Amino acid sequence: MPCFQKEHSNPLANVKIAYPRKVDLACTPTPLQLMQRASKEWGRGHRLWVKRDDLTGSLLSGNKIRKLEFIAAHAIDNGCDTLITCGGLQSNHARATAFVGAQLGLKVHLILRGEEPAQRDGNFLLDHLAGATVECHSPKKYIPGLEQLLEQAQASYTAQGHKAWVIPTGGSDGLGAWGYISACEELADDFNSHGIERAHIVTASGSGGTQAGLSAGIALHQLPATLWGVNVCDDESYFIKKVLADIEDWRSRYPHVPNFDCKPRVLDGYVGKGYAIASNEIFELIARLARLEGIVLDPVYTGKAFQGLVSEIEKGTFDGIEDIVFMHTGGTFGVFPQRDGFQ
Ligand SMILES: Cc1ncc(COP(=O)(O)O)c(C=O)c1O
Repeated sequence: MPCFQKEHSNPLANVKIAYPRKVDLACTPTPLQLMQRASKEWGRGHRLWVKRDDLTGSLLSGNKIRKLEFIAAHAIDNGCDTLITCGGLQSNHARATAFVGAQLGLKVHLILRGEEPAQRDGNFLLDHLAGATVECHSPKKYIPGLEQLLEQAQASYTAQGHKAWVIPTGGSDGLGAWGYISACEELADDFNSHGIERAHIVTASGSGGTQAGLSAGIALHQLPATLWGVNVCDDESYFIKKVLADIEDWRSRYPHVPNFDCKPRVLDGYVGKGYAIASNEIFELIARLARLEGIVLDPVYTGKAFQGLVSEIEKGTFDGIEDIVFMHTGGTFGVFPQRDGFQ
């Protein structure tokens, strides 16, 4: 049974939403900052804002930590002492989970996609520093066998007298969705304090949960915003289905939640050669933004999403609304294993 801790008042619509309990781990609210020089460079009359969710923490940074606040509370409330999750070798979500476990005294077991590298770097190095148990599997084994690998790991903890909670890829499910539903309350305050009457919001979509949470949050909080996910893998139809499935999962776990229509919007065309493979153009864009605004994006998620934002401004997709908010969902440690791309 979900354990409801407190009611948050809806600043825009006077709707009371009962949130499940969360553990406070993220440094929130994160700032919403106007990127003046970036607006001049790429805005074509739009004001470009950045929601600094890269500042939700250092090791517990990025979008994942907002989801994990709710997921970890749920696991603890269900008597679990272990978290199991999965992702790519350089998964930000896996690293954030490793540090959530270390901070809360929970064991963490990571099942990662990719051969064990000769040298530990970026998130993969940090996973080990945090004391997580790490299993690496070739994509050939991981992709068809993930479900079974997760079940086996969970069963082995049960056999040792532990109770493990399995978190899906990216923490993206109906439980993790609360993270970005509640972030919309912050965005509503940000809009009010910065005089933003209506905005486009652009975010990277990797496992769809951030987009699902924001979609639900925008509807529940009646935030005057149009949300766009830039997919960094798969394609538009995959993400439309995945976002709707996460919202459906959220609804089925919490039948008291209000009803709303949701039509996910996906800006496809920025995956490039594949997941985590960035073009020279992306590396150049990351370097340009770092110098212009002192903000570092990553080549796997936020760099591609920002490229999507800039290209869609050129196409006129956002015309008619002055303000565009870019969700900086973190990923900074992913820069280091791709250092060669910046040369
Ligand atoms: C830095 C970063 N940004 C964006 C995303 C995408 O978020 P989601 O998985 O919720 O779609 C991820 C993870 O996939 C991430 O690590």
